[in-house]
Amino acid sequence: MSFEDRFYRRAEQELNRIRQKNAVLANMRDAEIRRKYPDTYKIKAMISGTSARLLSIIADKSPDIGRKLADLEQENLSLQSQLRDSLVSHGYPADYLQPIYDCRLCLDTGIANGRRCTCFMNEVKKAASEEINKSSPLKLCRFEDFSLSYYDDAVETPLGATARGIMEYNLETCREYADGFHLPYNGLLMRGKTGLGKTHLSLSIASVVIEKGYNVIYCSAPDIFRTIEREHFGRAETDTDTLAMVIRSDLLVLDDLGSELDSKSGFYAHTLYNILNDRLNASLPTVISTNLDHKQLEARYEERTYSRISTMNELIFMGSDVRVKRAALQNN
Ligand SMILES: Nc1ncnc2c1ncn2[C@@H]1O[C@H](COP(=O)(O)OP(=O)(O)OP(=O)(O)O)[C@@H](O)[C@H]1O
Ligand SMILES: [Mg+2]
Ligand SMILES: [Zn+2]
Repeated sequence: MSFEDRFYRRAEQELNRIRQKNAVLANMRDAEIRRKYPDTYKIKAMISGTSARLLSIIADKSPDIGRKLADLEQENLSLQSQLRDSLVSHGYPADYLQPIYDCRLCLDTGIANGRRCTCFMNEVKKAASEEINKSSPLKLCRFEDFSLSYYDDAVETPLGATARGIMEYNLETCREYADGFHLPYNGLLMRGKTGLGKTHLSLSIASVVIEKGYNVIYCSAPDIFRTIEREHFGRAETDTDTLAMVIRSDLLVLDDLGSELDSKSGFYAHTLYNILNDRLNASLPTVISTNLDHKQLEARYEERTYSRISTMNELIFMGSDVRVKRAALQNN
């Protein structure tokens, strides 16, 4: 089974689960009304009876079939309205005994207007990103846990503000970026020394965007390049197409860019260029974090790759290693 088939099957299974869940819920509502308000439930039973009579009228082929059908329709409409009134009079929503659907577009069939419904395609994407993210620390970081107290507020940095001032701006920018996420969207480049919170903020963005229902792939550059290389040269045990998923995800968080070996030429360089270029062409956003400055980025990557990175919105991380500070606090 190809990797795409597998995700399609997962999506089918998910829709199946949704249909079953809604059927159980509908049965429970039925049973509840039958028990508490038998008179109300009787109306629902009569509505079901009209469907059976409809079939027998059609089967009879009687000469006044037109009038009989019109009468039946009238009766059905009147029963429907009695049922709604009765439910409302007992404090229930008017549609309490109607079939229940998660997706109004396709009524949970996965097909709308002869095409795969968006709800179905979202399930396919979700299955794909879960597969890539299964070994990553996603959801471990949140904006709420990001403290500005770790950053110095006394000394001005060469950028003209204190480290805390700059990091406050970065935090706000990342929050707004995550809250305002939509497609198409622009990317972000987080640049700075080790331990300053780049991974923390990029994961915080990822969790907000995932909660909004987008599919997000988080990966560290060395890991993802290695995985893609193994798959490309047929050394992986799976038939997953990580490169395709990385290129197509709604948001890609590419962490630790520059910490992979082999950069200027060869397979990784080519792969990085493809990822950035394809995503830019499709207006899909990428959040990159790196320890390298512009000079190092330029020296390390091909010109066409660097030119794509250098035009991204940039956040510069300032301060001294939070990892060290937190470790020191824990030891005291
Ligand atoms: N402002 C902060 N408030 C709370 N925890 C923080 C903050 N900044 C960083 N941390 C924590 O400190 C550790 C190091 O931060 P993080 O991994 O985000 O740094 P980084 O900039 O990605 O470093 P590197 O360049 O080495 O990848 C993490 O455990 C992170 O959760
Ligand atoms: Mg990091
Ligand atoms: Zn749907």
